[in-house]
Amino acid sequence: MSIIEKAMRGRSPQQPREELTPASSSNPPAPHALGSVIERAAVITKPEPLPVNPPKRTQRSVVLDFERLRAMGMLVPDARRSQIKEEYRHIKRPLLMNAAGKGATLAEHANLIMVTSSRPGEGKTFTACNLALSIAAERDRTVLLVDADVIKPSIAKTFGFEAGQGLVDLLIDEQLELADVLVDTNVPSLTVLPAGSTHHLSTELLASENMAKLAAEMSSRYSDRIIIFDSPPLLVTTEASVLATLAGQIAMVVEASRTHQSQVQEALALLDPNQIVGFVLNKAQRILGADYYGYGYGYQYGFNRDERDSDV
Ligand SMILES: Nc1ncnc2c1ncn2[C@@H]1O[C@H](COP(=O)(O)OP(=O)(O)OP(=O)(O)O)[C@@H](O)[C@H]1O
Ligand SMILES: [Mg+2]
Repeated sequence: MSIIEKAMRGRSPQQPREELTPASSSNPPAPHALGSVIERAAVITKPEPLPVNPPKRTQRSVVLDFERLRAMGMLVPDARRSQIKEEYRHIKRPLLMNAAGKGATLAEHANLIMVTSSRPGEGKTFTACNLALSIAAERDRTVLLVDADVIKPSIAKTFGFEAGQGLVDLLIDEQLELADVLVDTNVPSLTVLPAGSTHHLSTELLASENMAKLAAEMSSRYSDRIIIFDSPPLLVTTEASVLATLAGQIAMVVEASRTHQSQVQEALALLDPNQIVGFVLNKAQRILGADYYGYGYGYQYGFNRDERDSDV
């Protein structure tokens, strides 16, 4: 049985999301009307007979605090219109087109998107989380957000939950299955794979046959699934360029007024020249032309604190 199939077994339809243990019982339930309709539908579905040896796996589930995310300037999956939602619509469109094989360039594993940048702190994790939340809001799409920054993991911290085991543990422990380390969220189509334990051979693990198999399976098993890798910076680590070989598309975050063009060029030189690369211009004070860097396709994420805080 494939890793993904085992994971989907752990995610049995007999086990409605409401029965999964939340990370913190003090968190109020998130106001997501569609989610609760789906949950109730799952409850009234006639249960199938239990298998003789029911899977022992219990998948973790956490409740994301949407008000906290909103206060951090992040995209919140509610019905309200906001500047950031609009910006991420522009960012995700070419990525989804490529994933669906309708972009200008065809790529293998195009539904596997790696978010990276040249230097630390340019907004990779911020972008990966927002992109995941934005795509999860799409009809007929599910998102697996992978914290592939195994040296400095931060998806769990950004989303506000205890990371626990994750990708690294999955790669070093043959007893573990994907379902053991996946974290379901109260955004119905969003699942997180945390980075897991720190390991001194992280580059080797990411370059391993196991990792290549895992990535290929994640990508090929379900065509509607988008996998987003939050990654380390290309110019500081070797892990990022190793990961890039597994991804079908690269979303390169560029920090407005800070990242030098030469750094972007240096980072691009570490990638396969045939790879699909798009740019996210982060923390921009104003929207610039789409061909700002004149490389690959251009898209951008404009950031303006006043606009960010006001829903339109
Ligand atoms: N557009 C933005 N609006 C508001 N805050 C932002 C934005 N982009 C990044 N930040 C904030 O800047 C800080 C650094 O961002 P982030 O952690 O995403 O960078 P990173 O590139 O992942 O860093 P690292 O290389 O250390 O992993 C975080 O506190 C994040 O919340
Ligand atoms: Mg980061």
